[in-house]
Amino acid sequence: MARLCVNVDHVATVRQARRTVMPDPLEAALLAEQAGACGITIHLREDRRHIQDADVARIKKGIATKLNLEMATAEEIVKIALKTRPYQVTFVPEKRREITTEGGLDVTRDQKRLQAIIGKFRSKGIIVSLFIDPYERQVTASHVLGADAVELNTGAYSEAKGARAVKGELTKLEKAAALTGALGLTTHAGHGLTVANVAPVARIANIEELNIGHSIVSRAVITGFSAATREMIDAINSAGA
Ligand code: PXP
Repeated sequence: MARLCVNVDHVATVRQARRTVMPDPLEAALLAEQAGACGITIHLREDRRHIQDADVARIKKGIATKLNLEMATAEEIVKIALKTRPYQVTFVPEKRREITTEGGLDVTRDQKRLQAIIGKFRSKGIIVSLFIDPYERQVTASHVLGADAVELNTGAYSEAKGARAVKGELTKLEKAAALTGALGLTTHAGHGLTVANVAPVARIANIEELNIGHSIVSRAVITGFSAATREMIDAINSAGA
């Protein structure tokens, strides 16, 4: 059965709304680990809209499970990642104006450059995963480039409307996962997964890890709201006026 890696980016998004110190993505990561997550994922974006450079080092040092660092292959980020030495890096495409990662990396393009960067990480013992759309040409190219793993983009599956469209997207993921298995690539998946849509993806043979962030952070905000309100009322009531 697939294991869960929790993405804590949006804990940092809430913190960055005030440029303050809370909520702390490391604290969230430790709670996720206690609850059974097999790893923690963070994305150091070039625009630093959520995770900051200092978070990367703190989270790497503070967690007991593995750190999966999502990143673009921009020179500045590659330098930081090589210095940090996370357990794993996942290369993603990045656009400044996107709300979230919009699609998989096109690994059929710019292959020489990509191969050289993959080599740099692998030579330091860092596992390299490529976030790709579930297409045969992307899986085959990832294998040729020497990646250890791929993360299949479940974005289109998550956004599909109607049973037929959902089934179509699921079939693409199943076919891609069968090919990654045949080629010996470790297989992860993620993007847009929720408690309502995760089961069919979790059942796909070969998918070992699921990277899930936004739906967990969203749910945590709601399930924690009563306790946070009560805590504040207690603090006010115990003021002794
Ligand atoms: N995988 C990748 C490569 C991503 O970029 C993201 C979003 O940061 C996720 C998984 C997690 O997606 P979500 O936040 O929708 O669960």
